[in-house]
Amino acid sequence: MNNIIIKNAKELVTSSGFKAKFGEEMKDIGVIENGAVAIKDGKIVAVGTTDEVLSKVNQDEYEIIDATGKAVLPGFVDSHTHFIFGGYRQDEFNWRLEGVPYMDIMNSGGGIVNSVRDTRETSESDLYEIGKKRLNSMMEFGVTTVEGKSGYGLDTETELKQLRVMKKLDEDHPLDIVRTFMGAHATPKEFNGDTDAFVDYLIEDSLPKAIEDNLSEFCDVFTEENVFSIEQSRKLLLAAREHGYKLKMHADEIVQFGGAALAAELKTFSADHLLAASDEGLLAMRDAGTVCTLLPCTAFSLKADYARARFMIDNGCAVAVATDFNPGSCYTNSIPLLIALSTIYMGMTVEETITALTLNAAQAIDRADVVGSLDEGKKGDVIILDAPSYKFLPYNFGVNLVETVVKDGQVIYNK
Ligand code: NIG
Ligand code: FE
Repeated sequence: MNNIIIKNAKELVTSSGFKAKFGEEMKDIGVIENGAVAIKDGKIVAVGTTDEVLSKVNQDEYEIIDATGKAVLPGFVDSHTHFIFGGYRQDEFNWRLEGVPYMDIMNSGGGIVNSVRDTRETSESDLYEIGKKRLNSMMEFGVTTVEGKSGYGLDTETELKQLRVMKKLDEDHPLDIVRTFMGAHATPKEFNGDTDAFVDYLIEDSLPKAIEDNLSEFCDVFTEENVFSIEQSRKLLLAAREHGYKLKMHADEIVQFGGAALAAELKTFSADHLLAASDEGLLAMRDAGTVCTLLPCTAFSLKADYARARFMIDNGCAVAVATDFNPGSCYTNSIPLLIALSTIYMGMTVEETITALTLNAAQAIDRADVVGSLDEGKKGDVIILDAPSYKFLPYNFGVNLVETVVKDGQVIYNK
């Protein structure tokens, strides 16, 4: 039936809005005391105080959930992950603990290409089963929409395999999966360091195929020193746009490289990481309407300086946060850790963090019209916390407070 009313919420956080919030607006999360939300046929039909909502609907048509004493929020949107991969890189993580930099591991023939080898060797059905488990874990953290990237194939065949796995999981699993083609993640060994030739291969062979049958919607590139240059990134992204892809970038993660400025020039939906982005690059992103997606779990894992969230928000940027779940730089999909780092180390308020993990994250994957807030007409994606206030999210740090997850008007998880 997919008809549910969640009523009597001590705090109903709506994150109300249909497009990203910039700067100051990010602190406005639309809290309703003693709030309720009604979902019919999977879509939100009423939001307000419990009295208002109950007066608008015929209660007989609904399953009722009583959220007395609890905080209720929109489902979280994890707008940047690489969750389909074979194998693991626990040795590299431990070398990093001993002081070896991430880029040194990559430049000496390890890193991403190790996951490429393992992903090529893992069957499609095994990747599907691994992916399903990972989605279940995301769900338990309150994530209802997730973006997933290819990029551990680096040949058309394996890139398509990763995308097919995500497409099938999107059909079979309750979570929504937004798919991104990221063939430009590293240059595979068979190209012997000829990155220009690899970019041409991606443009000629992979790009046309990876958007067929709705396999992917976005194209992303790892723009970084010794990975893909600004010129190579621009060439690839412009070609992708010609094919109908929406654009994203990994930008200015390790060194200041001009990635943020390129994102602004191309008006990409988001540019992500931005640890080393320049003031001018960030302000240009703001003016272009490009979301700054920050990935503090990766900075934590790499022991790097965090992105300058305060500078961005204080200067009017739209900030999102995401996990970056991947086998190398950030092997965690922990939303509690993400919230702790966003607030305690990146200096974001809890309200800004909630906007960054709901509405702004939805905008980063072009879904702000359908998810990311509790507004009439949007999908009935709602989470209930085992806590009386959203302020417990950073306060009770490191602990998963999610008690119930409703997706498209159906309870898909109950602790
Ligand atoms: O977002 N920076 C590039 N890509 C991923 C890491 C991928 C990996 O290490 O396997 C990231 O951090
Ligand atoms: Fe990433």
